[in-house]
Amino acid sequence: MEQNRDINQFDIQLAKRIYLNKPKSILFKKLLLFSPFLFLLFSLASLRLIKNIELGTFSILNFQDERNPELRILGHLPYNEISKDKLVLIEPNVEVHIDMRNSLLNLREEAKKDGIYLVFLSGFRSINLQNEIFYSLKSLRNQEAAERARVSAPPGYSEHSTGFAIDIGDAAQRETDFETEFENTDAFRWLIKNAAKFHFKLSFNKNNKYIDYEPWHWRYEGSIEALKVFETSNREL
Ligand code: DAL
Ligand code: ZN
Repeated sequence: MEQNRDINQFDIQLAKRIYLNKPKSILFKKLLLFSPFLFLLFSLASLRLIKNIELGTFSILNFQDERNPELRILGHLPYNEISKDKLVLIEPNVEVHIDMRNSLLNLREEAKKDGIYLVFLSGFRSINLQNEIFYSLKSLRNQEAAERARVSAPPGYSEHSTGFAIDIGDAAQRETDFETEFENTDAFRWLIKNAAKFHFKLSFNKNNKYIDYEPWHWRYEGSIEALKVFETSNREL
């Protein structure tokens, strides 16, 4: 019994000596072992932080940020200019987005079968041209910007810059081109009845609180790209 106690004491003392020296070295070894994982975790966290900062900055600059409808200027939503390689000429001086060409030409053909002759008045307009229209031509009318904006979009804010918008007239009543009276033409009545079959929609109807009614102005929504472009506009309806 006496002997056993001595042995236990000896064991305990030895164990104590070993444990006194080990904690630091074990911790160090564990750190060494896990350091690649820790490094990886740290790197991933840093990358995510940088990405979030970049995205945050970009969304402030991004004209088509659909989360912020307050980006409207004088009632118009911002639109980017489509790249030249996506444009096709369908008439002298009328270019449109390549995705809507066939639909638009089919629409005109179907109207013709019903005795309606549609005229394409204006398709794609560059931001530069929109700039001229807004600041040069309209200033001849002695209108303030807000008045001009009821009938013409500021540069960078026209659906025409996307290539997906088309202004349409009636060949039998050219005096109604770009006039509200276009709504009394057979062409307009035909469009109201048939345009949706070809994925066209009236952009500025009578309920629009910002922009005057434009019965001649139609936009194409027959592709995912077009739907994305007009998502904010459709969501706000
Ligand atoms: N006339 C329409 C509003 C435009 O300029 O886009
Ligand atoms: Zn138009």
